[in-house]
Amino acid sequence: MDRRGQSRRNFLKCSAAALAAGAGFTAPATALSHPHPLRKLADERNLRIGPAVAYNPLVNERSYYHTVRHEFNILTPENAMKWAGTHPQQNQYTFTQADAIFNFGVAHGLAIHGHNLCWQSANPSWLTNGHFSRDQLITILQDHINTVAGRYSGSIAAWDVVNEALNGSGNLASGVWHDGLGTDYVALAFQFAREADPNALLVYNDYSIETVNAKSNGLYNMVQDFQQNGIPIDGVGFQMHIDINGINYASFAQNLQRFADLGLALFISEMDVRMPLPATDAKLAAQANVYANILAAVLNQPACYAFQTWGFTDKYSWIPGSYPGYGAALIFDENYNPKPAYDALAAELMTG
Ligand code: XIL
Repeated sequence: MDRRGQSRRNFLKCSAAALAAGAGFTAPATALSHPHPLRKLADERNLRIGPAVAYNPLVNERSYYHTVRHEFNILTPENAMKWAGTHPQQNQYTFTQADAIFNFGVAHGLAIHGHNLCWQSANPSWLTNGHFSRDQLITILQDHINTVAGRYSGSIAAWDVVNEALNGSGNLASGVWHDGLGTDYVALAFQFAREADPNALLVYNDYSIETVNAKSNGLYNMVQDFQQNGIPIDGVGFQMHIDINGINYASFAQNLQRFADLGLALFISEMDVRMPLPATDAKLAAQANVYANILAAVLNQPACYAFQTWGFTDKYSWIPGSYPGYGAALIFDENYNPKPAYDALAAELMTG
């Protein structure tokens, strides 16, 4: 058997531990051997760039594995660190998938952005159907954050401590934590996270907060309130799930600036740029422009810590399932070939 055949066999049977160690297989030629990977260009700009990573393709597809390893210097586990992924029963935690992604990232020098410690979605049914009292929920939240954030303490760059807590008016939305524990659940989660990992950047992460609007105003007030009351918060994640019409870039830059002025680290945490299918050259060009415009604003704002996308290949993206009729939202196509959006990001990193 030739070397490539051997290495493919090794890959297919490799364990999570071997995965993290690199498993000794060689990178395929072609699209995965760009002379200037985004990772290198971003390192030179002191920026972290990278995707959400899913467990199954990471373990099963060498093109997926090699693209992440070669192109990016930060990753976020897409689902593996959510409550439903780590805490299937009240007294049972499972870390197989979370550890595999974490170990892969650490082994290859990628920073890890944990996602997430408290959300009203992706929760196990024992939690959502438990009818727990306020005191019970406080204990449950603290135990979870201690166990999950504590496990990776010292080795994780940032945690999305609370995800999507606000509604469109900038007030706390209803959900298992708000309704069962009370309005101080956000502050408690941040306090528990600081105790569990004193070094990670503690981030509030949400969508539709990219520009100055009612929701980002509500967040701005919440952060100020936390700071005045000694609640630890270090960053904001602007998810950036947008489409090829883009956003108001002036308002975006102004919004970044006001959060930067609060002393926060800023993350573009989940960017994708969906388009109505089918993709055309014109739509792909418009998409490339949107990616470049957002990255340009990030490079202009020293408080920006990371530029992150929600996946990287159109082969694996949440968009077609969640926005019927839309897709092609990421920077590599379904065959792991770079799209115009990839080239636009590379050009922006080189010259922007
Ligand atoms: C999405 C994942 O991409 C999907 O695989 C999953 O089925 C649902 O969740 N905002 C977030 C992410 O903060 O956790 C969501 O991820 C996408 C929207």
